[in-house]
Amino acid sequence: MNTIGLIGAGHIGSQLARLAVKNDYNVVISNSRGPETLADLVRELGPHARAATPEEAARAGDIVVVTIPLNKLGDVPAAPLAGKIVIDTLNYYPQRDGRIAELDSEKTTTSEMVQRHLPGSKVVKAFNHIYAAELTTHGQPAGSPNRRALAIAGNDPAAKKEITALLERFGFDTVDIGPLSESWRIQRDTPGYGPRRTAGELRADLAAAKRPPK
Ligand SMILES: NC(=O)c1ccc[n+]([C@@H]2O[C@H](COP(=O)([O-])OP(=O)(O)OC[C@H]3O[C@@H](n4cnc5c(N)ncnc54)[C@H](OP(=O)(O)O)[C@@H]3O)[C@@H](O)[C@H]2O)c1
Repeated sequence: MNTIGLIGAGHIGSQLARLAVKNDYNVVISNSRGPETLADLVRELGPHARAATPEEAARAGDIVVVTIPLNKLGDVPAAPLAGKIVIDTLNYYPQRDGRIAELDSEKTTTSEMVQRHLPGSKVVKAFNHIYAAELTTHGQPAGSPNRRALAIAGNDPAAKKEITALLERFGFDTVDIGPLSESWRIQRDTPGYGPRRTAGELRADLAAAKRPPK
């Protein structure tokens, strides 16, 4: 488990790539415009990074992060991701993504949409409620007082265990929300979405989250 593939290399993708190489992973990054547009980032990341197409990043990653605008989810290649853990950082912003009726009506969650698009993958929601810049500045060693915690959700317990270990290496405690269907507790406009929280504080925020009526 030493290569992380990234589909999306913007604010979050580039920051996760930085965290990954710092923690001794190889990274394969990709975007929509082609590997050549990622030359500067690859140079900055160093010898453990390369750029590729989304298809290649999906194949190369032991774990693959999908970190693109939600309205581009349909472009993510499902076949090379079958059997793999896929981290989903996606959030729904209607002004960017357009109106999505089943999210407006709270019938589903962004993560369940990712799982539906990638039926053979083990989708774990993570990193969706921390600002990109803070990914490389808020991490602390295990046991640090008031360490920041991040929420995860997923339907596969073994996959969540692996992502908990990844977060630990990246410098964060983990709070497990439960299955993907519970990931609305950390969606936009919930108390835990954005602020720095310890595990105890985040648990309280998750419990206090209110879902708009269906
Ligand atoms: N920014 C934050 O602080 C933050 C925090 C938590 C979660 N999120 C969520 O995480 C996701 C990524 O956010 P971001 O801020 O990193 O976005 P961003 O800066 O706009 O970057 C988006 C990335 O996705 C790539 N992309 C777009 N369409 C693609 C496609 N069809 N195939 C492959 N790659 C594609 C873009 O590549 P090109 O430039 O080549 O098109 C770009 O590298 C969003 O869903 C966002 O809501 C963001």
